[in-house]
Amino acid sequence: MATKMEYRLARRLAQLEPSATAAMTARVAQMRSEGVKVISFSVGEPDFDTPTPIKEAGIDAINANYTHYTPTGGIAELRKAVAARVTADQGISYSAAQISVTAGAKEALYLAFQALCDEGDEAIIPAPYWVSYLEQAKLAGATPIMPYGDQANAFKITPDQLREALSERTRVVVLNSPSNPTGAVYSAAELRALADVLAGSDAIVIADEIYDAISYVDYARWLRVAPEMADRTLIVNGAAKGYAMTGWRVGYVAGPQPIIDAIKAIQSHTSTHTASIAQYAALAAYTPNPEIERTVVHMAGQFHRRRDLMLELLAEISGVTCNVPDGAFYVFPNVEGLLNRPLRNGIVCRTSEELNLYLLEHAHIACVAGEAFGAPGHIRLSYATAEDEIYAGMNRFRDSLSD
Ligand SMILES: Cc1ncc(COP(=O)(O)O)c(C=O)c1O
Repeated sequence: MATKMEYRLARRLAQLEPSATAAMTARVAQMRSEGVKVISFSVGEPDFDTPTPIKEAGIDAINANYTHYTPTGGIAELRKAVAARVTADQGISYSAAQISVTAGAKEALYLAFQALCDEGDEAIIPAPYWVSYLEQAKLAGATPIMPYGDQANAFKITPDQLREALSERTRVVVLNSPSNPTGAVYSAAELRALADVLAGSDAIVIADEIYDAISYVDYARWLRVAPEMADRTLIVNGAAKGYAMTGWRVGYVAGPQPIIDAIKAIQSHTSTHTASIAQYAALAAYTPNPEIERTVVHMAGQFHRRRDLMLELLAEISGVTCNVPDGAFYVFPNVEGLLNRPLRNGIVCRTSEELNLYLLEHAHIACVAGEAFGAPGHIRLSYATAEDEIYAGMNRFRDSLSD
C-alpha cells in the first residue's frame, strides 16, 4: 500500500490493555531466539503432558470423523458428564441444559460478562485479580470495582470490604479461589461470611474454580458453603489446569437456565462451540477414570513439592517476603524491599514493573509484574516448571541483585 492508512477502531477498545502475560511470553520467545537462555516463571500452564487416555480420546475422535459442527455449547454427552461433575462438586443438581462448554474458561467468563452486564453496571473484581476479568468487564460496558485483598489477610477480601464495594449498580461479583495470581484459597468460613453480605443484593456471583484440582488445603466450594446462592451463581471451570489441557481449549459454565440460554445465544453467533475433537478429549477427562484421576492427583502433588521448594529458595533472598499460597501454581512475593535501592551496577528500580524488566535483563528469568494484577510491589512466579529450573532460576534471581 502506498499511503499510510489511519484506521478507526471501536471506541470500546480505547481502554483495553493487552495481556501482560502474553507480552512477557512474546519477549521471552524473542530473547531465546537471540540465543539467551531465559528461565520462564511467567507462564500460567502446567508443564505436564495431557494424560494419555485423554489424548487417545482426541485421536479416536479424529479417526471416527467427529470433525463436524457440534451443537452450540457442546455435544450432549459432554454436557451430561460436566453436569454430573458440577452436581458432585457443588452438591446441587445441574442438568445438561444448564451447562455450556466453551473455548476455555476464558470464553466462559467473557460470555458471562456479555450476558449479564450493561453500560453503567459495576463488576466487583477483588484485587489482586487475574488480568482478563478486568478487561472482559470493561468490554461488556461494566465498571470494575476492585477491593484490595491485603497481603496480611492472605490477599483475600473481607466481608466489610465486599459490603463497601457493593452498590445498587453491582451486577457481578467475581470470586476466584484458588486465586491466580496469589494462590490464595478462601476457607469455608470466609466464603460463608461473603455470602452473608451478598444476601442483601441481587448481584450474580461468578465463581471461577479453574484451579480446584490444585489446592493444598481443604478446598471449600462456593455453593457447598452457600447453596442458597445457586440461582444467582455461575460456576466457571475448565480442563486446562487440572488436566494439563491448556491448548485443547475446553472450559464450561454452569448456572441458572435463563443465563445459560443467553450465553449459548451469544455463543451461537460467535465461536459456536469449541473444537469437536477437544470436546471428545474432554469427555474422557470428565468421565470417571481411576487412571486419569491418579494422574491429576500426581500432578497436584508435584506442584505442592515445587511450591515448597520455591518458598524455601525465595526465603533466602533478602528484600523478598512471600506468603504461603494454598493452591494454584503461583507464588506472589512482595518485592518492595528490593525497590529504591541500588542493585547490580547501582541500578535502582522504582516499581515492581521495573524490577521485573531488571530480572529479565540481569538474571534472565521471566516473571510477571504485580501491576498487571492490580498489585504493585509484587511479582508473580509460576512454579509449573521443573525443579532444576526452579533451583537455577532462584539462584540467578539472588545473584543478580548485587555486583
Ligand atoms: C483464574 C483463571 N481463570 C480462567 C483462566 C482461563 O483458563 P482457560 O485456559 O480455560 O481459558 C485462567 C488461565 O490462566 C485463570 O488463571
